[in-house]
Amino acid sequence: MSQRLTINQNNKPIYDIVYETTFERLAQELEAFEIHTKKVCIITDSQVKGLYANDVCYVLQEHCKQIAVFDFPDGERSKNLDTVNLIYEFLITNKFDRKDLIVALGGGVVGDVAGYVAATYLRGIDFIQLPTTLLAQVDSSVGGKTGVDFDQYKNMVGAFYMPKLVYMNLSTLKTLDDRQYYSGMAEVMKYGLIKNANFYEWIINNMYEIHERDLETLEEMVLKSCTYKKIVVEKDPTEKGERAILNFGHTIGHAIEKAKNFELTHGECVALGSVAAAYISWKRDLISMDEYYEIRDMFVPFNLPISIENIDPEELYALTASDKKMEGDHIKFILLKKMGKAMIDTTVTKEEIIAGINEIYFTDEDWDE
Ligand code: NAD
Ligand code: GLY
Repeated sequence: MSQRLTINQNNKPIYDIVYETTFERLAQELEAFEIHTKKVCIITDSQVKGLYANDVCYVLQEHCKQIAVFDFPDGERSKNLDTVNLIYEFLITNKFDRKDLIVALGGGVVGDVAGYVAATYLRGIDFIQLPTTLLAQVDSSVGGKTGVDFDQYKNMVGAFYMPKLVYMNLSTLKTLDDRQYYSGMAEVMKYGLIKNANFYEWIINNMYEIHERDLETLEEMVLKSCTYKKIVVEKDPTEKGERAILNFGHTIGHAIEKAKNFELTHGECVALGSVAAAYISWKRDLISMDEYYEIRDMFVPFNLPISIENIDPEELYALTASDKKMEGDHIKFILLKKMGKAMIDTTVTKEEIIAGINEIYFTDEDWDE
């Protein structure tokens, strides 16, 4: 273990990602940031607090000035400005200043909320990420996107703000329930589809070990995923261009998340959105029919949905068009140019998107066939 990746910008190192199987080396990693001079606020959710907050406090308490823990109810419904306000209040009441440190302990919701607080409290306070879901380890803790939902709009308020360190304790993936674990697999498969077809094959060939959550396989899978994300975010940290390919499956996926009132996980929605986007890619002759069906069917063994009931395709289209992935009047859609390569396309029509949605829409009539 103890592998690491460095995220650079303009050829300068910005932060490290370290891969461990316990929290034991966290204090050592934080020495470089003079942890002994800092108060630490651990921001977490109600579920992760019970699992890991004590372990992290135990490791850090001898090494920092003071530790406080703030938790909020787990789940996407907490990812809003009300939670942000409660955290500001907590930080102010407990006299946190700009030299102190925020620790985001949890999944993507915690990371996005705590990162946004860190970006804005006192115009910016240092923070680190301790991601505890597969989705957060392979995606959301890397790349500096922070933010919250606003009314029905996903991630509408936010900031690009880089952590000082991402410390991954891969063993935390063992306590994830199956649904949340496989939710993260949607983002892992995304990297294969958009960046490297060999990695896609690797995932399929290592299916048994992935199901077993074998630690060595997890380390390789998380490290490879982060490497693909690193390549993209180093070139385009603030999504002026190429970073948008990471949104493969997310345009329709985000619309499903909203339409279903966040009853499906982020990864489940990304899987559905990926099937629809792959279908449009096939219909444009970018990928073959066999490749389309392989992409669709390979989500199934990872417990991810490939069809959905009770949606209104027109409503989903409208939600897609109100998402922030717009460029002027056009939806910035991500298609597959071929297996392992994605492209940004602003010419995808309403008819194509509706056809993609109909491909994943499971109606009562489908039973009769
Ligand atoms: P999440 O943070 O809601 O976590 C899912 C559930 O797992 C929660 O109930 C949580 O309490 C629980 N949990 C977390 N770690 C656990 C563990 N080790 N053991 C047991 N339970 C645990 O969801 P998520 O899937 O991690 O993140 C989804 C969010 O990430 C979405 O809001 C999405 O928009 C965001 N996201 C952000 C980026 C980014 O670049 N910032 C990228 C992708 C997704
Ligand atoms: N998950 C998309 C991104 O980080 O850009």
